[in-house]
Amino acid sequence: MRVIHEPSELPKEGCNFVPTMGALHEGHSALIQEANNSHLPVVVSIFVNPTQFAPNEDFEAYPRMLDQDIEIAKAAGAEVVFAPTAEVVYEKEMNDIPLPKVATEPKLEDASRPTHFHGVCNVVARLFDFANPVNAFFGEKDYQQLKVIEAMVRQESRWGDLEIVAVPTARGIDGIALSSRNAYLSSEERMQARAIVHALSIGCEHGMMALLVEAGLDVDYAVIRDADSLLAPIEGCPRRAIIAAKVGSTRLIDNGELP
Ligand code: PAF
Repeated sequence: MRVIHEPSELPKEGCNFVPTMGALHEGHSALIQEANNSHLPVVVSIFVNPTQFAPNEDFEAYPRMLDQDIEIAKAAGAEVVFAPTAEVVYEKEMNDIPLPKVATEPKLEDASRPTHFHGVCNVVARLFDFANPVNAFFGEKDYQQLKVIEAMVRQESRWGDLEIVAVPTARGIDGIALSSRNAYLSSEERMQARAIVHALSIGCEHGMMALLVEAGLDVDYAVIRDADSLLAPIEGCPRRAIIAAKVGSTRLIDNGELP
């Protein structure tokens, strides 16, 4: 496996691409394994993107462990780890990507983290420009992010037939979605966080909220939405339960399909 830092060293023939911010866990391994399904080389990018963190968020504290990440990426089947510096990523001026509606209208992460999707779309666009992927793999755990990236790719034509592949959320044995931020949870908080998993299957917003509050979580939102637009559900169309809540000082997000 190659570890590279410059876009010019990326494979020229296209790739299966897994963008990450490092602190890789089994959820990322699942993405990399899923990407390792064809003759195309699997490229994993590792870049903690400053522009998607608000000033009050954990950019400085975000876990950085490149050596361990390289081992995990290699074990999962990556051929290239692309770890650019901020200077490389933001070297050239780029026109801002117009945000798709799903990045501004649902009032979920877009309301709680108003600058977040601007940062995500622009860095992902830049990484796509560098890597020129054939397929790019995103976890369903960041469900609004997945929908935003799908919409951005439909909206912009410059990545040709790039396909966004959604990979189901990897979970611990207690059902909690794997996330780099779980490292911040105490064992007591981890127990509390199980309420999120239970709430996702209730199928009624009132019941979700009651369960989360009862468990002592500070709920940002606990909603049921149309699975594609993330707006109000439409009779007969797929629905998604979506939660953001703080356990202690750690903000967790999760979601699940509803029947
Ligand atoms: O999901 C993430 O890890 C990040 O938001 C991403 C897509 C790598 C962009 O920085």
